Amino acid sequence: MASVVCPGSFDPVTHGHLDVIERSARLFDRVVVAVLVNENKQGLFDVPERLDLLRQATSHLSNVEIDSFSGLLVDFCTERKIGAIVKGLRAVSDFDYEVPMAHMNARLTAVDTVFVPTSPAWSFVSSSLVKEVVRHGGDVSGLVPPHVLARLLEVYGRA
Ligand code: PNS
Repeated sequence: MASVVCPGSFDPVTHGHLDVIERSARLFDRVVVAVLVNENKQGLFDVPERLDLLRQATSHLSNVEIDSFSGLLVDFCTERKIGAIVKGLRAVSDFDYEVPMAHMNARLTAVDTVFVPTSPAWSFVSSSLVKEVVRHGGDVSGLVPPHVLARLLEVYGRA
């Protein structure tokens, strides 16, 4: 059984993330979406809420599990019997950022990384940009699931 992990901050999940998660769920038997618990970086949403938003967004995918991890991703992979890491690539800048991590992870435990090109429809979408646009009153409907949009509008006092 091929198990993979889609790791990230997911602060919050966007349609770009969901594109990669849905395609991974078609390619592999089991997909674990893992949210990094980063003590040094305060997000907009706390980790329990990010997990909740992800669970709602992936409830239609029976082979997708939502979890969190701290420490090294490769240790999480070993603990959960995960054979590969899946990452979405939007642009060459993502490639430059991801390849050193892929090589380091492979060196640490021989866990491999599979890159999936993000659909062009979402190639400009990131959690950071979505938050910035909402914060300044812009419209991000269609770029995140409706329940995520509702929470963003609440958090930024626009509901
Ligand atoms: O969504 P992000 O913030 O780009 O995700 C980055 C993430 C969580 C995948 C990456 O920072 C990570 O794997 N962190 C865990 C710590 C770790 O294993 N570091 C060594 C990577 S070579």
